[in-house]
Amino acid sequence: ENCKLIQVASPEKGAEHFYQMIKEELDHNRLHVLGLATGSTMIPVYKKLTESELDFSDVTTFNLDEYVGLSASSPNSYAYFMKDHLFNKKNFKDTNIPNGMAEDLDAECKRYEHALQEAKLDIQLLGVGENGHIAFNEPGTPADSVTHVAQLTDSTLGVNSQYFENDEKIPNTALTMGIASIMSAKKLILLAFGEKKRPAITKVLEGKVDPDWTITYLLKHNDVTIITDLEL
Ligand code: GLP
Repeated sequence: ENCKLIQVASPEKGAEHFYQMIKEELDHNRLHVLGLATGSTMIPVYKKLTESELDFSDVTTFNLDEYVGLSASSPNSYAYFMKDHLFNKKNFKDTNIPNGMAEDLDAECKRYEHALQEAKLDIQLLGVGENGHIAFNEPGTPADSVTHVAQLTDSTLGVNSQYFENDEKIPNTALTMGIASIMSAKKLILLAFGEKKRPAITKVLEGKVDPDWTITYLLKHNDVTIITDLEL
């Protein structure tokens, strides 16, 4: 009912499905503010968008999260990832990412949350961590959380450090939209590819909100689409 599950044959097919959904919203003039995500899951998605004819010049974006202490020039920052995979190739009205270099991180979180609530997310794109986190909302993050400084768990540091380049050490904190920030979007689209995501998706299908698997908060939203290549 409120949570639609779309099963696809591959990440590329998943990206194609996401593209169709976005195209539909753009065609109906319903997409002005788009929440974006990072991670390997998003690579085929952004490839599809950059190769398309879609026009985002009237779309403002907000990214979910950023590591504390990494600047946009670090290849390990999410700001760099976004430029590399999307923003250098497609023109947007405006793009926003939390500033992990801010001197006052709490003030930066407040500023970001305020901008987000003013803009109002039409769609938020999401991936999921192996431990079920959405953005950097680690296990135990409360439902009423807004943009905040998150302490990353050892499991997340282990998984995400594999992608770190140039011997840069992975920061153990990040700025992230909270659960309430994400839930404020009109429409949520979550992509999960590969067996490592099975435990998280299984939790959602069990149908009960469990704060130790923050992906399950999505069960409380009235418009969620999960696109996955898992056979469930
Ligand atoms: C990071 C991000 C999440 C993302 C997750 C999954 O932890 N903060 O927003 O969903 O990675 O990454 P991948 O797509 O590489 O599996």
